[in-house]
Amino acid sequence: MSCGCKPTYPDRTWHGAAEVIENTAVAEGTYRIRLVCPHLAAHAVPGQFVMLRLRSGDDPLLGRPLAMYEVVLNDAGEPWALDIVYLAIGKMTRCLAMVGSGEQIDVWGPLGNGFPAEPVDHLIMVGGGIGQTPFLALSQEALGRRAYGQADRRPGWAKRATLCYGARSERLLACVDDFCNAGVTVRLATDDGSTGHRGLVTDLIEPLVGESGGSCRIVSCGPEPMLKAVVEIARRLGVPCQASLETPMACGMGICFSCVTKIRDDAGGWDYRRTCIDGPVFDAEKIVFD
Ligand SMILES: Cc1cc2nc3c(=O)[nH]c(=O)nc-3n(C[C@H](O)[C@H](O)[C@H](O)COP(=O)(O)OP(=O)(O)OC[C@H]3O[C@@H](n4cnc5c(N)ncnc54)[C@H](O)[C@@H]3O)c2cc1C
Ligand code: FES
Repeated sequence: MSCGCKPTYPDRTWHGAAEVIENTAVAEGTYRIRLVCPHLAAHAVPGQFVMLRLRSGDDPLLGRPLAMYEVVLNDAGEPWALDIVYLAIGKMTRCLAMVGSGEQIDVWGPLGNGFPAEPVDHLIMVGGGIGQTPFLALSQEALGRRAYGQADRRPGWAKRATLCYGARSERLLACVDDFCNAGVTVRLATDDGSTGHRGLVTDLIEPLVGESGGSCRIVSCGPEPMLKAVVEIARRLGVPCQASLETPMACGMGICFSCVTKIRDDAGGWDYRRTCIDGPVFDAEKIVFD
């Protein structure tokens, strides 16, 4: 029987062992892992993340935060599994790349706030490095192709969506076809000019806003220098902007304070906020970059 209370954060969060059913390379050093976790998949919204921890041993001891890439439906059309796309860069993710189908991973989530589903004509997503990962589900929802989480988000809140995606080289660009298939316009930038614009992904933003002819919103995820540049461009152009931070995290659920970041308050000062529960998505104007 329902107590009539509003569901709270822990009501939607699941912690358990999820079976891996796929873990395949999608670009150089980059993998997509599929985890069976129906409760988590049913509640996750775009921009939220999960913590993953290996079950084999205590090194690394702590879990790592990874964004929800996509929710996979079963034959009945119900949320069933979660896809995560990750770069094998350090201790945990290099071990994760060795995990095979049938093995289990510790998972807890969905965590964090996610992106708001606010109506706009043109959603401009700017991702650098592995920062494109929160944007597939976001664009599917924005363009009305998929619904996520519970009933409080209505899909179809953007008329068009563009992904500006930058990496060092074409070899590192992962899952571009997924975005094209989702109806997203994709503009690429590489440092070495191997594909797309030769130069910074941030070079792509201003012309795009200029040709939009309607309301725009920028969302961004990637290395901090890129986020800082995106925020400055958005401010100069007067375009609302949100950024998803990739702050290192130990618990992912507000206990350890390892993930704090400086966020401006309404009184003109700033205070530390926990990226795991107050973020990872923040209004770009409020982030204090050091
Ligand atoms: C909300 C959120 C969502 C995220 N989503 C994704 C995602 O979808 N996909 C993804 O790939 N990543 C994502 N990340 C980033 C990911 O959590 C980190 O890269 C994570 O640290 C990887 O764990 P690891 O053990 O493999 O690397 P770690 O060992 O934690 O290393 C992380 C980085 O630090 C460097 N490093 C490690 N040790 C040292 C040292 N002693 N000196 C200097 N540098 C060092 C490594 O080279 C690497 O660049 C996300 C982060 C957040 C907060
Ligand atoms: S990661 Fe522990 S409080 Fe945020």
